[in-house]
Amino acid sequence: MIIPPIKSQGIKTKLVPWINELVASSGIPEDAGWVEPFFGTGVVGFNSPLTGLHVAGDTNPHIVNFYKGIQSGAVSGQTMRAYLQRESRRLEDSPDDGYSYFLEVRRRFNALHDVHDFIFLSRAGFNGLMRFNKHGEWNVPFCKKQKRFTAAYITKICNQVIDVARTIAKSDWVFSNSSFLETVSAAGETDLIYCDPPYFGRYADYYNGWTEHDESELYNALSRTKAKFILSTWHHNAYRHNEMIKRYWSKFNVSTREHFYHTGGKIENRHPMVEALVYNFDMVRKPCSKTVRQMELFAETA
Ligand SMILES: C[S@@+](CC[C@H](N)C(=O)[O-])C[C@H]1O[C@@H](n2cnc3c(N)ncnc32)[C@H](O)[C@@H]1O
Repeated sequence: MIIPPIKSQGIKTKLVPWINELVASSGIPEDAGWVEPFFGTGVVGFNSPLTGLHVAGDTNPHIVNFYKGIQSGAVSGQTMRAYLQRESRRLEDSPDDGYSYFLEVRRRFNALHDVHDFIFLSRAGFNGLMRFNKHGEWNVPFCKKQKRFTAAYITKICNQVIDVARTIAKSDWVFSNSSFLETVSAAGETDLIYCDPPYFGRYADYYNGWTEHDESELYNALSRTKAKFILSTWHHNAYRHNEMIKRYWSKFNVSTREHFYHTGGKIENRHPMVEALVYNFDMVRKPCSKTVRQMELFAETA
C-alpha cells in the first residue's frame, strides 16, 4: 500500500482494501480513468487499481501544490531529505523544547505556503491533524516532540515521497485546485468517480465546510453522471445516524462497515464509526466472503 507523506484526520487508509474490492466488483476495466473530487491525502487514489487518467481535485491548494510539486520534480526524496535534515536540526536547537521554532515554521508557511513546510507541519503537528482557521491559516499546535524528525522518521517520509512520485509516473495524473462540481463534470462514461466529501454535521474548518446544500449538489451531480461512482460517507456512530443517507443516498446501493478513528481532537471523533460506501452499479463479481459477512453484519444495523 502507498502511504502518502501528508497526514490528516480524514485519511481513508483503512478503507482502501474495501474500496478496491468494490472497484473490482464493479467490472470496470483496469484501464478506466479515476476521478477523485475530494482528493485529501490521496491515499485512495494512489492505491487505485485503475490505470487510466487520474483526475485529482481538491479545494485545498496546499495539497494540490504539494502533489504538483512531486509531479514536476520540484519535490523529491532528495529535496525532502535535505529540507528535513536542516529543519530537524533547527527544531532540536530551539531553546524552548522546539515550540518557538515550530511556530516560526507555521508563520512562514502561512505567509509563503512552501510545500516542504507543509509536510513539516503535517508531521510535527498535534496528533497528525490538518486544520486551518477561518483565515485559511494552518493552526494545529506542536506535537511537543523536539526530536520528532529522527533519521528513521526522515527516511520514512522521503520514501513516501518517492513512492508517490513513482505512482504518479506510472499513469497520467492531473491535479487540480477545483471544487467538486468541476471535477465530477470532467468524468466520462467509462471513468470511475470516487468521492470522499467532508462529513455533513461533523468536523469543519476553512477547507472542510460542508452544508446540506453541498450534499444536495453532490447528490444531483452524481445522479446525473453516466460514470460509475463510489461515495464514502458515515452511516452512524454510538450517538447518531447520518440523516443524509435516508434523505439522499438510499436510492443507490449502500454497504456499511465499522472503522475506528484514532485521531481527532474531539472525543466523539475517537469512537468507532460505521462507514458507508454508496455506489451506483450492480456488482458483476461478488466480493470475497469475509467482506460479504461484514457487510451483512452491518446491514442489520442499517
Ligand atoms: C474527507 S477529506 C478526503 C480524505 C481523503 N479521501 C483521504 O483519504 O485522505 C475531504 C477533502 O475534500 C476537500 N474539500 C472540501 N470541500 C470541497 C469542495 N467543495 N470541493 C472539492 N474539495 C473539497 C478538503 O480539502 C479535503 O481534502
